[in-house]
Amino acid sequence: MSVNIPQHLIPSDPRFGCGPSLIRLEDLARLQQQGPHLLGTSHRKEPVKALCREIQDNLRSYLNVPQDYSIVLGNGGATLLFDMVGLGLVKKRIVHHVCGEFSDKWFNASRRIPWIEAEKRQVENGQGNVMTQGEGADVVAVTLNETSTGVMNTLLPDVDEHCLLAVDATSGAGQVACDISRTDLFFFSPQKVFASEGGLFVALLSPKAKARIAEVAADRERYIPVFADWRLALSNSEQAQTYNTPAVVTLWLFAEQVKRMNALGFAQVEQQAKEKAEWIYQWAQTHNSLSCYVADPRARSTTVATIDVADSVDVSKLTAWLEQRQLVYGIDGYRALGRNQLRIALFHNISLEDLKKLTALIDYLIDCGGFAA
Ligand SMILES: Cc1ncc(COP(=O)(O)O)c(C=O)c1O
Repeated sequence: MSVNIPQHLIPSDPRFGCGPSLIRLEDLARLQQQGPHLLGTSHRKEPVKALCREIQDNLRSYLNVPQDYSIVLGNGGATLLFDMVGLGLVKKRIVHHVCGEFSDKWFNASRRIPWIEAEKRQVENGQGNVMTQGEGADVVAVTLNETSTGVMNTLLPDVDEHCLLAVDATSGAGQVACDISRTDLFFFSPQKVFASEGGLFVALLSPKAKARIAEVAADRERYIPVFADWRLALSNSEQAQTYNTPAVVTLWLFAEQVKRMNALGFAQVEQQAKEKAEWIYQWAQTHNSLSCYVADPRARSTTVATIDVADSVDVSKLTAWLEQRQLVYGIDGYRALGRNQLRIALFHNISLEDLKKLTALIDYLIDCGGFAA
């Protein structure tokens, strides 16, 4: 059956994926103008260092990062930090709060390091963690926003003076409120809310975390790979540099996005995110074939919405149909969850107007069923 989609149902931008996310093409156009002064120039020279400094300054203001915290930029994405925590911050024992695929990957990274102990405290997919420090832990690992399930963990555990609180904020940072001063390590890849390319990590380190880096590294027996050495990452960041050569395009996109978001201010960005979340979850609750995957409304993410779909609608056919026609990209559920599910990003660059069009378009397709032919 051929389906004619009414023009007013077509989103102005097809990208609704949960990372890499909708980057603004006008930022790239501006980069092209700057090209000869940035692209293909040394990251040890002032133009690229100025870009890093701009990111650090705007992030500090936007996320309200205390002055005595360091803002570290490095290559390797949040995935590298999964290893760097176990290798360079844990003394003996880390407790992982696990609520989906990414928090589990982080646990598995720690578990593979033979000289530390890693404990997993897991809830069922779709639920948020109820978190405490746990017996003997010197690091507690928390995932602020579990990208695979669309669960938000905003109630951070208290930790004592011997323990660090490490937060993977990859898909929440910038939109999900978090008091940085309660964390010792707050890290993310800026390829989600911050609309950059992949490959970069950002790590905010408290004075307590910096002292721990020195303490762990003082143990001469301890194996710390050069690429995962916090001391190098820190000292380079203090000079507004990454340890090894960065992708300048990634830095540029990140810098433009932080500048834009900082100009609006966190409260305004958070408010916009809440409005989008309210819209999408309300849609799911009122539609016969849809329901919210995350049962507890307080745990429903304001950056990644997961919507269960009735078996009568084949989501894989629906999303393939939309992708083939270049109308909508990236709204399939997280594969490993194995559900008939939509997963839709609510990141800052995705407008409420486009989300309204997307939901109306899905309604239209479900009603006419033309995608399934
Ligand atoms: C919560 C979370 N942590 C870590 C990662 C890994 O990030 P990267 O692929 O940029 O290393 C992701 C990626 O989607 C994520 O969603």
